[in-house]
Amino acid sequence: MVSSNSLFDSSLMGTSVMSMVPENHVMRPLELTDYRKGYMECLSNLTIVGDVSEQMFGESFEDMQRSGNYLVIVIEDLSTQKIVASGSLIVEQKFLRNCGRVGHIEDIVVAKGQQGKRFGFTIIKQLLELANVAGCYKSILDCSLDNAPFYEKCGLENKGVQMAVYAPNVSLKKA
Ligand SMILES: CC(C)(COP(=O)(O)OP(=O)(O)OC[C@H]1O[C@@H](n2cnc3c(N)ncnc32)[C@H](O)[C@@H]1OP(=O)(O)O)[C@@H](O)C(=O)NCCC(=O)NCCS
Repeated sequence: MVSSNSLFDSSLMGTSVMSMVPENHVMRPLELTDYRKGYMECLSNLTIVGDVSEQMFGESFEDMQRSGNYLVIVIEDLSTQKIVASGSLIVEQKFLRNCGRVGHIEDIVVAKGQQGKRFGFTIIKQLLELANVAGCYKSILDCSLDNAPFYEKCGLENKGVQMAVYAPNVSLKKA
């Protein structure tokens, strides 16, 4: 069921992957209240997060919830009530391939001090299960060469290069 606190219906989560989560931890959809459980601090282990207020977080959360195509998951340490890992699957609807769908894996992060405990592996496996449930014919991601061996261990393979252009006039802060 989707509660207004949950980004998406938790029953979509694959149960086989759940057994990989250690005791005192839970893997689940992102919740609105995760802002107060250190979600942004966890994300800051990946890149610049900016100065995101609880209101800004809530507005972006509602946009994603309304769209239904943003499947952001977290692992919470229940003993500290802190988010220790997160990852996102964005489901892209296409016209080609018989109006197929592609999964875009984004923002994979494990908090410092929690890395090397297979949280990253578990997040990827769960996102791939979600992509399967969403009917994605493939899932793709961009990463640095340094992180490629991690994704290979998760079952992905190198298929090409990433191209990017950054808009010169878009600030990191929302207007
Ligand atoms: C990269 C990251 C997500 C990996 O998560 P993690 O929980 O630390 O990794 P895991 O414990 O799940 O590792 C799974 C396997 O990958 C290996 N691995 C993890 N990171 C690796 C790396 N950078 N290079 C080579 N192997 C790596 C582990 O040794 C482990 O191997 P094993 O199966 O033989 O034991 C995590 O270190 C992280 O958040 N880093 C900072 C943010 C970042 O770079 N995110 C990725 C953006 S593309």
